[in-house]
Amino acid sequence: MRKWNFCAGPAVISEEVLKEVQNELVEWGDSGMSIMEMSHRSSIYDQVAIEAKSDLVDILSIPDTHDVLFLQGGATQQFATIPMNFASDSKKADYVLSGTWSKKSIAEASKLINVKTIASSENNGSYTKAPHPDSWNISPDSSYVHYCPNETIQGVSIHKAPIIDKPLIADMSSVILSEPLDVSDFSMIYAGAQKNIGPAGLTLAIIEKSFMEQDNNSLPNILRYSQHAASGSMLNTPPTFAWYMAGKVFKWIKKSGGLNYFREQNHLKAKTLYNYIDSSDFYSNPVSEENRSIMNIPFILSDSELDKLFLVESEACGLLNLKGHRSVGGMRASIYNAMPIEGIHALIDFMKDFEQRNG
Ligand SMILES: Cc1ncc(COP(=O)(O)O)c(C=O)c1O
Repeated sequence: MRKWNFCAGPAVISEEVLKEVQNELVEWGDSGMSIMEMSHRSSIYDQVAIEAKSDLVDILSIPDTHDVLFLQGGATQQFATIPMNFASDSKKADYVLSGTWSKKSIAEASKLINVKTIASSENNGSYTKAPHPDSWNISPDSSYVHYCPNETIQGVSIHKAPIIDKPLIADMSSVILSEPLDVSDFSMIYAGAQKNIGPAGLTLAIIEKSFMEQDNNSLPNILRYSQHAASGSMLNTPPTFAWYMAGKVFKWIKKSGGLNYFREQNHLKAKTLYNYIDSSDFYSNPVSEENRSIMNIPFILSDSELDKLFLVESEACGLLNLKGHRSVGGMRASIYNAMPIEGIHALIDFMKDFEQRNG
């Protein structure tokens, strides 16, 4: 029996999508084989791949100025290939520090270029707000500005994309497809697939074509965005199954009502959970209101001695993966697109009951 899965990633996938995939797992159409056994150069797979891309372009209204790449290596590889490609001349880039993932991106880029942390909300290793874009002290000689709009571990978000005079690059791993987005605000958006896109193993990059042309031609092809783009993301064997499944998720998003529908649902889910947490003396969320994530909601119990019991009992009630990241402790509910409002109600019912018995 499937349960409510609050995992931060790999994360919940719609049961409807899973069942569809199950139905065609052994043989795709009348091809005589499964999608996993098919050449990525075959006409059948090509159609699956192209359709996934065009559905994503549709969902996000990606303009012609931008291209979509289906890559591997996770968001973590992007932490390295972005500075390698886009700061190869200046060796300078600006980064905003708002949580664990932006910190990691800074650490990786710093091995390659001079990183300037132009704004930070780090406070003794913790983050309960994000630096407002008005406070970003952008350098005149940096090649780009990088930030993480949704810090998955701390549940800290920068909700509105800043309009700046430089190429803007965003790690959207845990927030992409949660609501509509103006892609033209960004020179590059990237995301590991394993939250709102599909299974792990696929990494999406949406890159402004004129920016991509400036990548570093002294790098091996596999590290160059323009080379992936020129080969339709088939420079080498792509993660065919993950790409196919992402395509299924994109169709499910379209069928459900697109990103406007998910915006409404996601805000409702988040508001419902935050309202309950705020109304209780037993649970709390430390993030300042304007920076609260709609995807990842951490919360702590008034007595951390009860954490273990909370996790054991919640799991027994069919509420899985609520343990907060080891670096922050407490709990975290990741409530991506495929988590319905019923899952939030089930969580709140359990939290109320737990408080009554232990508060
Ligand atoms: C915001 C963010 N950036 C980067 C990563 C790292 O992604 P990957 O494991 O795909 O390299 C994660 C993973 O959870 C994330 O949430």
